[in-house]
Amino acid sequence: MSDDGYAWQRAERELTEIDTSVPHSARIWNYWLGGKDNFPVDQAAGDQYVRTFPGILDIARLTREFLKRSVRYMAADAGLRQFLDLGTGLPTVDNTHEVAQRIAPDAKIVYVDNDPLVLTHAHALLTSTPQGTTDFVDADLRRPDVILEAAARTLDLDRPVGLTFMGVLGHITDDDEVRTLVRALVDGLAPGSHLVICDGYDVVSPEFVQAQDDYDEGGSVPYRLRDRAQILGFFGDLDLLDPGLVPSPEWRPETEQVGPAPQIRPLAGIAVKPA
Ligand SMILES: C[S@@+](CC[C@H](N)C(=O)[O-])C[C@H]1O[C@@H](n2cnc3c(N)ncnc32)[C@H](O)[C@@H]1O
Repeated sequence: MSDDGYAWQRAERELTEIDTSVPHSARIWNYWLGGKDNFPVDQAAGDQYVRTFPGILDIARLTREFLKRSVRYMAADAGLRQFLDLGTGLPTVDNTHEVAQRIAPDAKIVYVDNDPLVLTHAHALLTSTPQGTTDFVDADLRRPDVILEAAARTLDLDRPVGLTFMGVLGHITDDDEVRTLVRALVDGLAPGSHLVICDGYDVVSPEFVQAQDDYDEGGSVPYRLRDRAQILGFFGDLDLLDPGLVPSPEWRPETEQVGPAPQIRPLAGIAVKPA
């Protein structure tokens, strides 16, 4: 656990900055996942979304399931011991460090988010095993330079890192900006690093578009619904591992699908930075 006081001082300062008058992505996501770290304004926005497009609850659940499966893959099969989790969200069961450290107790994890409430809950993310380390960085995704410098306090950037973007890239609505920031982060990491993206959709229904339009107009940071070609572009020239960029339940499933598959699934893929 990081004990330099950095996260705690910031948490105290940022506590006064939590705005409960507008809905926030991290808090609405937490509400959809059944968490308690949200306010009436987030519940109202989340309920309105679900009324128009109930499938968002499947999307939130599938995104978390893929987070766990992908981190397990990277720790167990790829042998990675370092993770950089961007757009972490509020703590829930099975956060990245818990999944990774169950397999590799010495794993090091750096979490990055720019939401003040996520920052105040950082203590729940800093519960590392004694052999491992976790840290939390209060930063915007659009500042890869700041993120890499802060991550280097905990991670050895000359060794491979698992870089994860789970349900966050849609918050950066400009495609060029996403390509630039993903590229800058990957460039700052060692060969053998893995780029993990879960975002975009195999199909988009009119109800989904309507729910997202209403959400975007409700004062939250907008989220862009992207198709497969757009998400594929964010991997640049990196080689995707099998089975490629696919609906998340189809990325190396560990259990059989029970019941009918959700109509709309997030897309998921993992690529590796070559030597
Ligand atoms: C939909 S939640 C996903 C949370 C988590 N990754 C998961 O899959 O459960 C999106 C998260 O990204 C964070 N976020 C949004 N825009 C961001 C930005 N520009 N920089 C850093 N974090 C951001 C939000 O605060 C929120 O916690």
